[in-house]
Amino acid sequence: MPGNSFGQIFKITTFGESHGPGLGVVVDGCPSRIKLCTADFESAMTRRRPGRQIYDSPRQEPDRVEILSGIFEDQTTGAPITLYIHHQDADSKPYDILRQLFRPGHADYAYFKKYGHFDFRGGGRSSARETAARVAAGVVAQKVLSPLGVEIQAYSLEIGGIRAEKTDLVYARQNPFYFPDPALNSKVEQALQQAKEEGDSLGGIVEARVRGCPAGLGEPVFDKLDADLAKAVMSLGAVKGCEIGDGFAVAGLKGSQNNDAITPAGFTTNHSGGILGGISTGADIILRAAVKPIPSITIEQQTIDRHLQPARLKMTGRFDTTAVPRMVPVVEAMISLVLADHYLRHRAGK
Ligand SMILES: Cc1cc2nc3c(=O)[nH]c(=O)nc-3n(C[C@H](O)[C@H](O)[C@H](O)COP(=O)(O)O)c2cc1C
Repeated sequence: MPGNSFGQIFKITTFGESHGPGLGVVVDGCPSRIKLCTADFESAMTRRRPGRQIYDSPRQEPDRVEILSGIFEDQTTGAPITLYIHHQDADSKPYDILRQLFRPGHADYAYFKKYGHFDFRGGGRSSARETAARVAAGVVAQKVLSPLGVEIQAYSLEIGGIRAEKTDLVYARQNPFYFPDPALNSKVEQALQQAKEEGDSLGGIVEARVRGCPAGLGEPVFDKLDADLAKAVMSLGAVKGCEIGDGFAVAGLKGSQNNDAITPAGFTTNHSGGILGGISTGADIILRAAVKPIPSITIEQQTIDRHLQPARLKMTGRFDTTAVPRMVPVVEAMISLVLADHYLRHRAGK
């Protein structure tokens, strides 16, 4: 199973399954002499962990990061950094049914077709638990970026069709849904409550803004910054689309409307989302990810078994009502990884 690594100079490799002993990440290519200790991971890991609110999977994982290599006297040495998270609350019993039946909307059927044999417990390798490793790696990436003053903030722009009309970034950071519109927050909660009662799930949109990204990150031709950001975000389970700047809306604009006029003081607008020719311009980078509804629902569904016979699936287990809020810190981490890699590539002149 190749494809577990991401990045060129700042390169991460994640490992581990949802119901194995734990999971982790090896971060290779991190420069030496960056201060790093286990306490640095706490805030980012807490923002991603399940069970923060009742619409999250109730699985209780403290997601404490252990540093197994690459750090000496609280500083990076330049050697590979291995970060490990020990699982403490995996319950595989409800997943026994998936020995035979495929969950519609999840990865089970595709994994079965490809591998014939895979760890289906809790989604195995396709589980969102894998994103804990990405968030841990993102903390290291943030440290690499910190001298540049880059600020990355993602938030839930839309949940269950309720779209924020106001973007209060301070409010977004503090409320449990990471939703930026105080006036509509209770509507989001009602929609989640209703979906949960019905045994259903909701999708939405995560939006991210990057401030202070220097101009010049990104490489022509295949390693464009927008291409790498899209890959980073599309590599997350449940993400079915990615937009940069005005995204799909550019299709309906005229050149005179879409072009960002340039003045000595900078761009007058930001339709491009901070990237032109695959290279950052210094304007804010704006990215949106479309997140599908969680596939695991308790409503009975039509499926087949491993002998291709029709079956009905009524799931029990612990799952999120929506992935959107939990995706927010993960999107921030993926953006950090891309920017740290491109920053180091730019610095190295490669
Ligand atoms: C943060 C996060 C939380 C998720 N929580 C769940 C969950 O509780 N139950 C579930 O079935 N899928 C969940 N997913 C979605 C699945 O991981 C995803 O749909 C699955 O891997 C199939 O991949 P695809 O949707 O990209 O095709 C979550 C995804 C993310 C990123």
